[in-house]
Amino acid sequence: MEARLTEEHRGFFSVDESEVHGAPGRVNLIGEHTDYNDGFVLPTPIDRHVWAAASPRDGVRVAVRALDLGDMMEFSLDAITRSTDHPWGNYVMGVAQVLQDEGHRLRGAYMTISGDVPIGAGLSSSAALLMASLRAFQSMNGIALEPVEAAYLARRAENRFVGVQCGVMDQFVAALGEHGKALFIDCRTNEHRLVELPRDHRVVVVNTMKSRDLASSAYNERREQCLEAVRVIGRHEAGVTALRDVTPELLVKHWSELQPVIQRRARHVVTENQRVLESLELLGHGDVEGFGGLMYDSHESLRHDYEVSCRELDVLVDATLDMRGVAGARMTGAGFGGCTVNLVEDGYVEGFTQSIAERYFKATAKRAEVYLA
Ligand code: GLA
Repeated sequence: MEARLTEEHRGFFSVDESEVHGAPGRVNLIGEHTDYNDGFVLPTPIDRHVWAAASPRDGVRVAVRALDLGDMMEFSLDAITRSTDHPWGNYVMGVAQVLQDEGHRLRGAYMTISGDVPIGAGLSSSAALLMASLRAFQSMNGIALEPVEAAYLARRAENRFVGVQCGVMDQFVAALGEHGKALFIDCRTNEHRLVELPRDHRVVVVNTMKSRDLASSAYNERREQCLEAVRVIGRHEAGVTALRDVTPELLVKHWSELQPVIQRRARHVVTENQRVLESLELLGHGDVEGFGGLMYDSHESLRHDYEVSCRELDVLVDATLDMRGVAGARMTGAGFGGCTVNLVEDGYVEGFTQSIAERYFKATAKRAEVYLA
């Protein structure tokens, strides 16, 4: 991939030198819709990446080619404005803008982007694109950043420039994740550590191939509902500034003051945070079944309390319930389509891949895609 990209890049832009920078997509094992509530998450990078080949250029113009989309755009570092014609370009421009906001002077550039993270599947192709282009700009301009700082810059680029009010999980794991390990992140303190995954199991991702149309408006609505719960509970409880601060006891205490829909949203986040902490313990003891059980609990909570699942995701998760060798399954990412994440014992992966695809097709007439993370 890297060699082909370099050749394309140098040939197209007629440059002799270039560097390639990449970042992986991710799948979240547990801890969904908790990051923007100052909570806990446990994602892992997948073996699919977005790559950016880049060469510095005189002046203030940046030309970017999206190889896989057959599209190209050019912008001036002096006057960065959001593009509706090239939505993917906003990620690259957003990164350039936040770096300049930080006081860095950037040189012009030629860039070529390519990757194999499925787009719009909830595997964070956007965070991978942000991080790959951030790394390219850093390298061309000699900018050193701590990885946590880089993650927050990339998130800011997405929040401010692309307009999705996402949390920091995706950029964090794109910046700091290691293949084959999970990354525990405390999204309030930024404390983070690598977590070993069970050696005899594989993380298998199943793509519903359903595009997430509603995702951004429903996402921002969920964020608002969480804030509403915090406003109500925080009136009585000093020190509650995010759902992270709400214990199960506090939620019970203030339950009747919350609207029914807000009750359910808060219950998801409060219990999901607990599930992440419990997961760390279980994985620490090698209790794969226990962890798998929490994955199923997480899915139920996202389905009924947070209401971000959909029929396709439920079909995929339910189909695993009687399959041998599957420790756990749940929807992953923002929801409304996208993928499920499954923990499958070695030796059962092939059988799993076949039966899940068959059952999914029978139930939905759609063809699922399966990836090994
Ligand atoms: C999207 C966002 C993340 C996170 C997840 C849900 O992937 O980008 O910040 O909120 O949804 O857990």
